[in-house]
Amino acid sequence: MADYENILVEKRDDRVGLIRLNRPKAMNALNGALMTELVDALGVLDADPEIGCMVVTGNERAFAAGADIKEMETSTAVDMLYSDRISLWDRVRDIKKPVIAAVAGVALGGGCELAMACDMIIAAENARFGQPEINLGVIPGAGGTQRLTRAVGKALAMEMVLNNRWLSAEEAYRFGLVSRIFSNELHLEETLRIASEIAARAPVALRMAKEAVNAAFELPLAEGLRFERRAFYFLFSTDDQKEGMNAFVNKREAKWQGK
Ligand code: HXC
Repeated sequence: MADYENILVEKRDDRVGLIRLNRPKAMNALNGALMTELVDALGVLDADPEIGCMVVTGNERAFAAGADIKEMETSTAVDMLYSDRISLWDRVRDIKKPVIAAVAGVALGGGCELAMACDMIIAAENARFGQPEINLGVIPGAGGTQRLTRAVGKALAMEMVLNNRWLSAEEAYRFGLVSRIFSNELHLEETLRIASEIAARAPVALRMAKEAVNAAFELPLAEGLRFERRAFYFLFSTDDQKEGMNAFVNKREAKWQGK
């Protein structure tokens, strides 16, 4: 793994890759360097056959307080267009293996959007989610008006985007933005446990499953259903389908090959 300055990367024995955003003095503000390192590390772990699932986390105070405002302050529209910094968020979404955002503390602006670009969000009790861009004279730019609206519905997304309403972990859970909440103490440990369970599952099916659920976010229903069905039929060409069904019939544990 390359030497990174803004993230810490750990390859764990249980097929889980853990990436910690590591700019604590700036509340993990997502500058270009950090985002470039993050997508690079995710890409390396995605290509690593010893890894089955990734977890992205911050620290107890901040998952990430958004894109780095100091870096953007004097940018022109043309600077933004040419640097196309938001394409880095798209690259998180394009990772093929499951990616879990373990959010403690604030996930604001681009930080909330980064968490939403992951496949699921697991929150600590102290997690807070918000899209405060309106306070800066801009709007969310990396999916905040789109993914958030699909996740929590129009009324709440409007209040968050128009009037900087933040959600507590409990509210985020109630409105469907996060899948679980754990106490601050157990949050990372429990998220890693869930990640290791996912990492042990049939790899080709996992890849198809992730793609199919994401299709529900991005495609009209009829197209999503067609995609799901083709993926389901395709999986009958894999050794893992034969193994999984045979293991069930013979009352034994399946051994996945990822082919
Ligand atoms: C750059 C940031 C930052 C950010 C915090 N810091 N957020 N620097 N960009 N997004 C820095 C502060 O300047 C400060 O540095 C240090 O982190 C600690 O922050 P404080 O404000 O002193 O801490 P606190 O009072 O605890 O408040 C924490 C906070 C607040 C609530 C998170 O910092 C805040 O509101 N941050 C901005 C949140 C935001 O507006 N995010 C949206 C960004 S725009 P110094 O050097 O002064 O100690 C965006 C668009 C995305 O995300 C579009 C896609 C690219």
